[in-house]
Amino acid sequence: MPLLYVEHMTRFFGGLRAVHDYNFKIEPGEIHGLIGPNGAGKSTIFNLITGVYKPTEGSIHFRGKNIIKYPSHKIAALGLGRTFQNLRLWRHMSVLDHIKMAQFSQITYGLIGAFFDTKKRNQQEEENTEKAIKIMELVGIGKLTDQLVPNLPYGLQRRVEIARALAINPKLLLLDEPTAGMNSEELQDLVNVIRHIHDKLGVAILLIEHRMKFVMDLCERIQTLDFGEVIAEGSPEEIQNNPRVIDAYLGKEVKI
Ligand SMILES: Nc1ncnc2c1ncn2[C@@H]1O[C@H](COP(=O)(O)OP(=O)(O)OP(=O)(O)O)[C@@H](O)[C@H]1O
Ligand SMILES: [Mg+2]
Repeated sequence: MPLLYVEHMTRFFGGLRAVHDYNFKIEPGEIHGLIGPNGAGKSTIFNLITGVYKPTEGSIHFRGKNIIKYPSHKIAALGLGRTFQNLRLWRHMSVLDHIKMAQFSQITYGLIGAFFDTKKRNQQEEENTEKAIKIMELVGIGKLTDQLVPNLPYGLQRRVEIARALAINPKLLLLDEPTAGMNSEELQDLVNVIRHIHDKLGVAILLIEHRMKFVMDLCERIQTLDFGEVIAEGSPEEIQNNPRVIDAYLGKEVKI
């Protein structure tokens, strides 16, 4: 079975069919893209895969397990990391603490250890800090440990979110518009960071994007969504030349 396998997934919000009969699979280490106009249902698909919403119909298997009834934190613990379309970072928390907080799901020193200064706790704390710094170095923010997020340029804030998603040791990383709000220099830097993460960790990646150069540079396969339905699927070249995609999306003014 593929790493993630979604079959016939549909989701209604009241009378609105946000996602209809959606099918998707990704193998370990692959990079896929999900594109389409505003309101097409892309973020809803991420929210369904990560357990934020439950599908009205359909099935989702991740690492061979049927995760349809799993709460979000259990899906994350299985190795599914994500970032959000709108940054969800804490104003008063340092960059390092963002990463360390995400590691908590894997901490095992227990309640007693949390209150008493046990050896195990100290040792694990040290290991976690080291690991967090390694992740930060991987995404190119290794020197920013004590910085507060609001003091960072937008492109680096996005990287903090990616580092936080990596803190759970994901097998699959879902990135929702990671370049939103970035200038072209930050965008090129992010292409390099994502390639680097992919090379070093071998993590599979599914990304939602409106910036076509970014998608076409990184992804081996792309799905195009319109009104909740997949209207095209294929290689970057096939997608760029697909008349339905041009008509529904690429030929129109695209939100950046
Ligand atoms: N919680 C919700 N309740 C009701 N409707 C919702 C909810 N979440 C999303 N929708 C609707 O579902 C549709 C798909 O929204 P979604 O956010 O998935 O689109 P998108 O493809 O991510 O768009 P964008 O490119 O603008 O981010 C939209 O019509 C949206 O208004
Ligand atoms: Mg969205």
